[in-house]
Amino acid sequence: MGIRKILTDKDPALHKVCRPVENFDRKLHKLLDDMAETLEEANGVGLAAPQVGILRRVVIVDTGEEILELVNPTLLETSGEQVGAEGCLSVPGKYGLVKRPNVAKVRAQDRNGDWYEVEGEELIARCFCHELDHLDGIVYTQVMDRYLTDEELEEY
Ligand code: NI
Repeated sequence: MGIRKILTDKDPALHKVCRPVENFDRKLHKLLDDMAETLEEANGVGLAAPQVGILRRVVIVDTGEEILELVNPTLLETSGEQVGAEGCLSVPGKYGLVKRPNVAKVRAQDRNGDWYEVEGEELIARCFCHELDHLDGIVYTQVMDRYLTDEELEEY
């Protein structure tokens, strides 16, 4: 176990397309464990492997009830729309206004390579979309409407 350094969006790793995971081995399990520890320490909702410098398609999301491990995730379907404040551990201290689907269903592999599907609403749907974007080198600041002011942030 170990806490890994979270890179900022100035790092080139945040702007690369990540490769699929092929080996569901101890190295992957260590990465997932470290990411969970890093996310908890940073008090975040989601974390993608490129944020800790690993260019593989791995995401974790803290739903409040469990840590979802999403390996090689794809967005299956989305519905609805939400516009709200969004932040990123790689863009510290800032929040943007971002439009996302209100519901998002994701298909992914678990740490042993077994496929499963999971659906998220509201904050979790937003988080799925945000984290999956990271795997394609997209940071929310590239898809946001604009940064929020401090006064606006209090509203959201
Ligand atoms: Ni992020």
